[in-house]
Amino acid sequence: MLAPVAWAAGLLIFVGVVACRWKFQQSKPTVNLEVWLQQQRAIIDFSFAGHSSSTKEGKLLYRAQANHRLVSAFGIDNSLTTYSTDVHEKFVKLSSKLINNSSRRWPELYLVAEGFLERNVENAAAERGQIRLADCVRCLCLIVVLVDAYNINLEGISPDVFLTITREINRQWLESKCDTDAPKSDLLASSLRGLHLKKKLGAGVDISEDTPEEALGFIMPQYETLWRVVLLTFVTAYHRQARTEDVRRGESVPGCLGNPVKEKEALKLAKEGLRLFPSNKRIYRAACGDEKQLISADVEASHRNSRVWGPNALKFRPERFDNLSKLQGKAYFPFSLSPNRCPAIAGFGNRMVTMLVVALGTTLSPKTGKILFNDELLDGNPEEPLPTGRDDMESWALLLRDASGS
Ligand code: HEM
Repeated sequence: MLAPVAWAAGLLIFVGVVACRWKFQQSKPTVNLEVWLQQQRAIIDFSFAGHSSSTKEGKLLYRAQANHRLVSAFGIDNSLTTYSTDVHEKFVKLSSKLINNSSRRWPELYLVAEGFLERNVENAAAERGQIRLADCVRCLCLIVVLVDAYNINLEGISPDVFLTITREINRQWLESKCDTDAPKSDLLASSLRGLHLKKKLGAGVDISEDTPEEALGFIMPQYETLWRVVLLTFVTAYHRQARTEDVRRGESVPGCLGNPVKEKEALKLAKEGLRLFPSNKRIYRAACGDEKQLISADVEASHRNSRVWGPNALKFRPERFDNLSKLQGKAYFPFSLSPNRCPAIAGFGNRMVTMLVVALGTTLSPKTGKILFNDELLDGNPEEPLPTGRDDMESWALLLRDASGS
């Protein structure tokens, strides 16, 4: 147990370092775990910046500057990129209204996901017998988000449109990491325009079509936070570390979703997936209000630390959420922390991840195919931890059983 004096001293040193312009090299939780954890939380909740982040505007500045590259690359103007409290509030309100909508029919969304995946299996069977997993999961997440938020009618839209959009988003994202002023993609804009996206705001609300920038501002916080955690959790729970009890947890999906008692077991799949594979591996802030000097909270390190999560920290064990310790509760923040927590924390995030993971696990189960990583280490050693970087999964494929001859 840490003495309060040592804790306070650690935090004072930490704030002092920030105040004198950090060239912040993220420390690792080697010395004092609780101080380190407090530092990560202070970055996320903006308190690291002291008085200058005490107002709403102050907080937005530290975050908007850190996300500047998304404005250049995608033209996004939302809560995560704005300096304006007005834009921030309106966007959070709109997001909450759309995602925390109690009339959502999860079984219908599940059918959309299942239908898309079954078509992938049929097409793969007719061709090379392989499904490219990164492309497949990216398109799956995009389609479900678009059906949910915009009610798009999939009939008559070529699957190539979704492939183009997801590949362009990925390419732009990677490019914006090297060039923070990367220009926007015309191909992405025209593909989105072709979908004629109108938000689903209920009967009687007159709305115009979203511009590509408006659509991206709304799609990105959902689609981008979903696809990697969904892919990695599916591969882990249904193939790499498959256990009967975890497959069983998903059997009540989609019917259980939205019912707090019935969905409890299934949602642990998402909770554990978001622990091992947090959508935001790091949460960035601009140090000293300078977009060129970023500091970040290491969410992934906190979620995987063996002193917090025990010797099986890297194992997929949803049952650990039956009873989290106080320290574990403090070290787990996949949806960020108050006062700017993600609105999807209210249930939508965990439900969506669970639904997509279960749809994948059921349709692309080990009975349907075997995962080929096309990587010596991963294919050779089932214990090798999965890499989690944006471009680490491009070679992963599901080889259909019939095609592999096994
Ligand atoms: C599994 C799903 C999701 C995860 C893990 C997630 C995670 C996060 C995280 C970590 C942040 C804080 C980022 C920062 O402070 O730099 C955030 C903020 C936000 N997210 Fe999400 N998100 C998810 C889904 C969604 C969805 C579906 C929406 C709907 C549009 C959404 C809208 C937002 C908004 C508006 C904020 C800003 C909140 C504020 O500033 O008060 N997120 N999300």
